[in-house]
Amino acid sequence: SSRPSVKIVEVGPRDGLQNEKELLSTKIKVLLINRLTDAGLPVVESTSFVSPKWVPQMVDATQVMNLITRKPGVSYPVLTPNLKGLEAAIAAGAEEVAIFGAASESFSMRNINCSIAESLTRFEAVAVAAKAAGLRIRGYVSCVAGCPYEGTIAPQAVADVAKALLDMGCYEISLGDTIGVGRPKEIQSMLDAVARVVPVEQLAIHCHDTYGQALANIYASLEAGVRVVDSSVSGLGGCPYAKGSSGNVATEDVVYMLEGNGFSTGVDLDKLINVGAWITAKLGRENGSRVARAMLAK
Ligand code: HMG
Ligand code: MG
Repeated sequence: SSRPSVKIVEVGPRDGLQNEKELLSTKIKVLLINRLTDAGLPVVESTSFVSPKWVPQMVDATQVMNLITRKPGVSYPVLTPNLKGLEAAIAAGAEEVAIFGAASESFSMRNINCSIAESLTRFEAVAVAAKAAGLRIRGYVSCVAGCPYEGTIAPQAVADVAKALLDMGCYEISLGDTIGVGRPKEIQSMLDAVARVVPVEQLAIHCHDTYGQALANIYASLEAGVRVVDSSVSGLGGCPYAKGSSGNVATEDVVYMLEGNGFSTGVDLDKLINVGAWITAKLGRENGSRVARAMLAK
C-alpha cells in the first residue's frame, strides 16, 4: 500500500513474560513466538540471555532460540547484558541482540547491578564482539520519563545514553517509559532532546501502560516522527526491577490505532487477537488489550 509504514517490535515473549512467576513451558513460549510471526509481526523479541537468578523465567533462552521456526525477513532479537549473555546468544544462533541501559543511576544498579558508566563500558565490549560476529545491535534506554527510585529524569540524561548507544553501533534506540508515568508533552520534550543527537529514523518508543498514557504517548511520538513502536501482545508484562510496573501497551491496541490512522503495520489484527486470547488463557490472566476485549465480546 502507499500508506507510510510503522514497524512494530513485539516484545511479549521477553518483556511480557519476564515477570511471570510461574515458569511457562518452553513449548508454549516457542508456539507464542511462531504464532506472533504468523500474525505478521516483523520483529519478535524472543528471550533474554540474562542471569536466571535475576530473571528465572528466561532460563530456557537457548532452547527457545533453537526451537522457534525462523521466518525469512523476521528478526528475533534477544537481550544480552554482558559478554556471557552474548556468547550464549551467538551459540543459540541469534542474529540480533539488544543491550539495555538506563537514564537513571538507581534503576541501572537495581536492574543490571552496575552504574550507567560501567554499563556503557560493558555494552561497548558486547557491541564490539557482536559486530565482529556480524550481529545487529539494538539499544534500550530505560526510565526515559521517570524512575521508580529517583522520580523525574532530565531529557538530557536520556539523550546522553541514547547517543552513547548509537556511537557503539546500535542501529535503533528504543526509549522506554519503564513505569509508564510520562505524558504526551513530556514524551515530546524528551524526544526533542534525543532527536538532537540520534536521527529520529533510528528511534523507537517503548511504552508501559501503567498510568494509561501509552497510546497517547505513542500518538505524540508519531507526531514527532517516530516510526517504530514496541508493544506486547495483550499488554503482557512488567519489569521485575520496577515495582508496580505493568505491561507494555497492547500490540492489538497499537495495530488498531495505526491502521485506522493511515499507517500500515503488516499485522493481521484478527490473528493477533486470537494469539492474545490464547496466551492470556494459558497464563490465567485477563486480556490487557481493550481492542481485543471489545472485539471478542462482539
Ligand atoms: P551480577 O550478579 O552483577 O553478575 O548480575 P556477575 O557477572 O557478578 O555474575 C553473577 C552470576 O550470574 C554468575 O553465576 C554468572 O555466571 C551469572 P554464579 O557464578 O553466581 O553461578 N551470569 C549470567 N548467567 C547467565 N547469563 C548471563 C550472565 N551474566 C552473569 N548473561 C547481570 C549482572 C547483568 C547478569 C544481572 O543483573 C542480570 O541478569 N540482569 C538482567 C535483568 C533483566 O533482565 N531485567 C529485565 C530486562 S530490562 C527491562 O525490562 C526494561 C526494558 O523493557 C525497557 C523498558 O521498559 O524501559 C528493556
Ligand atoms: Mg519494558
